[in-house]
Amino acid sequence: MRHHPDRFKGKVAVVTGAAQGIGQMVAVNLAKEGGRVALIDRSEIVNETCEDIVKEGLDGIAIEADLEKYADCDRVMHEAVKHFGRIDILINNVGGTIWARPFVHYEENQIEAEIRRSLFPTMWCCRAVLPIMVKQNSGTIVNVSSIATRGINRVPYAAAKGGVNALTASLAFECAEQNIRVCAVAPGGTEQLALERRCVGCAAVEHHERRTRPAAIVNRPRDHVGIETGVGRNQHRGRHSKRLGKRRAGAFGCGRRTHQGQRPVVGRPSPAHLALERRRS
Ligand SMILES: NC(=O)c1ccc[n+]([C@@H]2O[C@H](COP(=O)([O-])OP(=O)(O)OC[C@H]3O[C@@H](n4cnc5c(N)ncnc54)[C@H](O)[C@@H]3O)[C@@H](O)[C@H]2O)c1
Repeated sequence: MRHHPDRFKGKVAVVTGAAQGIGQMVAVNLAKEGGRVALIDRSEIVNETCEDIVKEGLDGIAIEADLEKYADCDRVMHEAVKHFGRIDILINNVGGTIWARPFVHYEENQIEAEIRRSLFPTMWCCRAVLPIMVKQNSGTIVNVSSIATRGINRVPYAAAKGGVNALTASLAFECAEQNIRVCAVAPGGTEQLALERRCVGCAAVEHHERRTRPAAIVNRPRDHVGIETGVGRNQHRGRHSKRLGKRRAGAFGCGRRTHQGQRPVVGRPSPAHLALERRRS
């Protein structure tokens, strides 16, 4: 990962799920590139990540919250504004498979838990940050989706991430005229640290992904940073950043594949798309 000092100079970013994994690397690198970062997580370990950032002379605060609850999402956004004065970037990273198994074996409460983990934190945080970004007449929201919307043995997670894609596209249309950019990324398999228990049945899913994906690659959290921050398409030079062709991605044809198993899902709608949507509605 090549750093671009000052790329986010003065920008205020809220990163959810920042105690470990992709969210942690994104938060740390945003800070290293000049961002002022609010690190959010329900795990108290987020305080340690934040302390490491501050020790390096960078700007960050940690807020503990359970983002499955709307009230916590609302509190987090207000605390970030109280501290930094504004929010320029929201990275909705909380999510992840809890159980992996054939759909027929999921219990009702497990299905609900998967949706609560992988759809609601993104939905709630988008809703909670919107009044702030609308008032500013600017902002960028990056939702972390997954390639697993077509994976086997995790139908509820796939449905949740499919929901993330849908809310991203719809919100992008709704907010374009308020100068708010809403986009999503869809990572492939990425190494996980063991701070949180890995999903039950994960090994079978990983085995399937390795067999079915072209290069059988597992990314590292730091490989995501450029992409998750929504600006790294051409600057990102991670381990697997070689261009995989010119296939257009997403509802608005906004991006090219630049990363193994990961591509921008949705970008800013073009004026032509907006006009079309207006005629349709
Ligand atoms: N790791 C992968 O292979 C992979 C692949 C595709 C997509 N993704 C997506 O990337 C994102 C990050 O994945 P990861 O592997 O780095 O996850 P992770 O499990 O390593 O980290 C998730 C973080 O979110 C926090 N968290 C969970 N629920 C929370 C809640 N309700 N409120 C606040 N914090 C909460 C956890 O404490 C943890 O620190 C997820 O949305 C995941 O679905 C991951």
